Amino acid sequence: MKISSIKTCVVETKERHYKIYFGNDIVKKANIILDRYIKHKSIVIIYDKVLIRKLNTLEISVSKAASNVTSIGINSGENSKSFNNLNFLCEKIIKTGIDRKSILIAFGGGVIGDLTGFVASVLLRGINFIQIPTTMLSQVDSSIGGKTGINSIFGKNLIGSFHQPIAVLSDANILNSLNSREILSGYAEIIKHSLIQDKNFFLWLEKNGKNVIKGNNKLRTECIIRACKIKSDIIKKDEFEFGQRALLNLGHTFGHAIESYLEYDGTILHGEAVSIGIIMAFKLAIKTNSCSQKDLDSVTKHFNDVGLPVSLRQITDKIKSPKKIWALMQNDKKSSEGILKFIIPSKIGQCSIKRNIDPEIILSLLNEEIKNE
Ligand SMILES: NC(=O)c1ccc[n+]([C@@H]2O[C@H](COP(=O)([O-])OP(=O)(O)OC[C@H]3O[C@@H](n4cnc5c(N)ncnc54)[C@H](O)[C@@H]3O)[C@@H](O)[C@H]2O)c1
Ligand SMILES: [Zn+2]
Repeated sequence: MKISSIKTCVVETKERHYKIYFGNDIVKKANIILDRYIKHKSIVIIYDKVLIRKLNTLEISVSKAASNVTSIGINSGENSKSFNNLNFLCEKIIKTGIDRKSILIAFGGGVIGDLTGFVASVLLRGINFIQIPTTMLSQVDSSIGGKTGINSIFGKNLIGSFHQPIAVLSDANILNSLNSREILSGYAEIIKHSLIQDKNFFLWLEKNGKNVIKGNNKLRTECIIRACKIKSDIIKKDEFEFGQRALLNLGHTFGHAIESYLEYDGTILHGEAVSIGIIMAFKLAIKTNSCSQKDLDSVTKHFNDVGLPVSLRQITDKIKSPKKIWALMQNDKKSSEGILKFIIPSKIGQCSIKRNIDPEIILSLLNEEIKNE
């Protein structure tokens, strides 16, 4: 099997430099790419049960290089990022007889990647892991950068660690079984990357976004690589989110509050909440004289063109209380030194971090958004 068609991007962190490998049917070729990482080692694959039919291909491939392979299935869904699964996986993996050279492989979306990364970071005081992200969102976002974790009853991702993978395998074909809503949800994070620091990429998305979503593999791969390069560029400068990495949270303070209000009941996908959150961040930017209406109009038009929501009412009428959204937004303080930070666009391709925005302005924005319903 040829590997000449495989492209790579390097993520540079203090813990290590590692490669993301991009290509078609990369899961089938996993042994060729992963040989130097997994040769003669014990491998445990943690997979999303949704992928059971694709697991066999990965197992066969990995078995060609590794000394032995065990697979453990996890139910799909956000609820799987739990203490129960942390406990279950740690005990089950220890029982397989692993040592410090053993490697975990996360085979699934962001849920499996975050959970597996966290397990790898604590097992035997830390073992290596490889990400094989299987959703658009996880390929452009969660599989790179080393944030791992599970959820607390007090909020998402509050228990976790920084633990970088040793390699990431990004297979374009594996996305073909995702439904269009999940594809769009990941695409929202791609747009986010462009809005943070690359106007030319946004212009490219305006031209090619619809075909990326429809499934043109060549454009999809190009788009995913560009998005990954933006994320790795930001991580290289600020791995532990002391500053610029927070820009990746554009649209997330609003987005997380919306998801939390709806108790992650499936009404809204993460990327949909983020897309509404991005539009709200642009509206907030206009209210604080940071950005032009013209830029908001361009972003709104692109969201409309590809089918991403730009307001809550397009998804649900379950959200009735602006004050409750405001209260839930305070949860984001927990991971940012007790100060609510907003990522505010100044123009397409440029954002900045603002603290201490007048709560009255935010509440008026929330009132407008929710009254609109
Ligand atoms: N660590 C980070 O830096 C980071 C960044 C962004 C998001 N996240 C986390 O990522 C998670 C969201 O990731 P996600 O959107 O990938 O969610 P997910 O893992 O829940 O996957 C979404 C859905 O797609 C299904 N699925 C996965 N691969 C599939 C495939 N190839 N074909 C068909 N169905 C498939 C899953 O079973 C699930 O139902 C959240 O928990 C979020 O907190 C982490
Ligand atoms: Zn996100």
